[in-house]
Amino acid sequence: MTPSSVSIRPAAGRLGILTPGLGAVATTFIAGVESIRRGLSKPIGSLTQMATIRLGQRAERRAPLIRDFVPLAGLDDIVFGAWDPIPDDAYTSAVKAGVLEERHLAPLKDFLQSIRPMPAVFDQHYVTRIHGTHVKSGASKRDLAEQLRQDIRAFKAAHRCDRLVAVWCGSTEIFITPGAVHASIEAFEQAMADNHPDIAPSMLYAWACIMEGVPYCNGAPNLAVDTLALQALALREGVPISGKDFKTGQTWMKTVIAPALKARMLGLAGWYSTNILGNRDGEVLDDPASFKTKEASKLSVLHTILQPEMYPDLYEGFSHVVRINYYPPRGDNKEGWDNIDIVGWMGYPMQIKVNFLCRDSILAAPLVLDLALFSDLAHRAGRSGIQEWLSFYYKSPMAGAGLQPEHDLFIQQTKLKNTLRHLMGEEQITHLGLEYFP
Ligand SMILES: NC(=O)c1ccc[n+]([C@@H]2O[C@H](COP(=O)([O-])OP(=O)(O)OC[C@H]3O[C@@H](n4cnc5c(N)ncnc54)[C@H](O)[C@@H]3O)[C@@H](O)[C@H]2O)c1
Repeated sequence: MTPSSVSIRPAAGRLGILTPGLGAVATTFIAGVESIRRGLSKPIGSLTQMATIRLGQRAERRAPLIRDFVPLAGLDDIVFGAWDPIPDDAYTSAVKAGVLEERHLAPLKDFLQSIRPMPAVFDQHYVTRIHGTHVKSGASKRDLAEQLRQDIRAFKAAHRCDRLVAVWCGSTEIFITPGAVHASIEAFEQAMADNHPDIAPSMLYAWACIMEGVPYCNGAPNLAVDTLALQALALREGVPISGKDFKTGQTWMKTVIAPALKARMLGLAGWYSTNILGNRDGEVLDDPASFKTKEASKLSVLHTILQPEMYPDLYEGFSHVVRINYYPPRGDNKEGWDNIDIVGWMGYPMQIKVNFLCRDSILAAPLVLDLALFSDLAHRAGRSGIQEWLSFYYKSPMAGAGLQPEHDLFIQQTKLKNTLRHLMGEEQITHLGLEYFP
């Protein structure tokens, strides 16, 4: 069967990228895009800008850049907007975040100063360590969400945008378990009107974006858009959604090493992960209620990759511990240590140690760009609801009802690239050798 391409609206006009949250990740992302536009940096870490995609048989030697293969918005067509409960403009916020050096920020100062956050929907109950002053007030959560819709429309008009996408770069909220108020659109909307405590600000942004036809990507582990109610709303409104929690440092490594152990049928006795982190995110995660949200996201990966129920001799009962310690001197330069106790032939124990000195926001920024551009592509291609092909970017990927999320980075990468091939009417790559087709 010859595949046929999907009809995709062209990426004409301007794309507005809205970030609830204008902290370390968002400002590093914005500054990076502007620096690339001015020819001062290369888009390192971004698949949409740097990766190629193989098409057809190997012998055909067709491997265009992804951005030449699928119709993505160009970087010059992007405009930025944000909400934050702290009124700092993007320059001030970037300086405070301490990720980028002055020599990189100084040439972008005027541009970054022009990006000022809109007042946020914020409630300290959900993020205890942030003291927000630049905050909306309203009669109910529903009213606050309607104000966000108004912001979205006003931004779109003021910046003459053709399309918008949103990527949550706000703080990690306290842990919320999905309940009756998240089970249907009607229950959710009633709960907004009733100011129900299980409706967090991140959910109001998600609702407002979906209602305005704005694809929504969730970079934090917050429940946010990962509820039956908002998934149903996204399908009803024809809007792509994805989440949760950018897969950047330690978990990214985990989803590389765990599939390697399983591929070789090596056992796992335990995996101990610890981090020191000194940025504002680290401070927020120092609150046990916010950490619980992050912990759930970080713990989920190993079980789904290793499948102890299928391989009890190798993986039953392994121990998995994750710690994040707030340690101010390190700023955004996180250091992670992993101790992995593995088991080999005849049960002999071995150890792998990983010491990853990473820069959190430097790893996260290209993910924000890719998620925004791919979500905009998905929208123009008529896709809606959960975009599982974007699982590649998330620690705790959303999956359809009753489905296990896919955590293995290489399966996720294959799924992403095969989705792009499918959209453009190219054959899926199966890696069957040519010798089978004499
Ligand atoms: N950097 C990474 O590698 C990484 C990886 C995975 C997830 N994340 C998540 O991304 C998010 C952003 O990380 P960061 O390092 O930029 O944190 P940050 O603390 O520097 O920035 C978060 C910003 O969000 C704002 N905020 C809080 N509540 C808000 C609300 N209701 N509306 C709008 N803004 C709000 C805060 O005031 C702050 O400025 C965090 O949730 C973090 O856990 C980051």
